[in-house]
Amino acid sequence: MKNEQVDRRRFLAQWAALSAVAPSSALAFAEAPRCALTGEDIEGPYYLANAPRRTTLIEPGMSGTPLELEATVRDTRCIGLARARVELWQCDARGRYDTAGSRLRATLETDARGRFTVRTIVPGRYLNGATYRPAHIHCKIHGPRGVLTTQIYFDGDPYNANDPWYRRERAVSLVHGRDGFSARFDAVVRA
Ligand SMILES: [Fe+2]
Repeated sequence: MKNEQVDRRRFLAQWAALSAVAPSSALAFAEAPRCALTGEDIEGPYYLANAPRRTTLIEPGMSGTPLELEATVRDTRCIGLARARVELWQCDARGRYDTAGSRLRATLETDARGRFTVRTIVPGRYLNGATYRPAHIHCKIHGPRGVLTTQIYFDGDPYNANDPWYRRERAVSLVHGRDGFSARFDAVVRA
């Protein structure tokens, strides 16, 4: 019986000690994962508001290499942002933007875990002054604390090196798939 009392006192002492440190430990754990904010990029001259809601940008007769872009939108705690509005626009395989219609433009929403997938084509390149811009996809992500305007680039594009806006951390890798390429992009916005 005496030993049981000693054990109980020891248990209570240990519990009290644990409880005293638990709040700060829990806080540290909750704040531990930090996702770095995705950098801003220029909007460029080809943005048009009110692009149609869709996740497939490929249309009949469209030339180019199919690309399935899987993406996530998260906050700096690395938590996916549900139902965040995303706008995408890009040029076609020959480097042309559709400025009269909505070809290769889309508006969509992330799912409950902050994910979205679009079917499009690998964008071409276009002249910007005397040199080509590397292939890129423009996007606007509407988060709870503002809009992130940025661009997604592609690893290995020979025009990345001399492009003033290219950033390696926003370049995705093209992976061969059954039908064209797939790529993954992870964006982080203020929330
Ligand atoms: Fe562009």
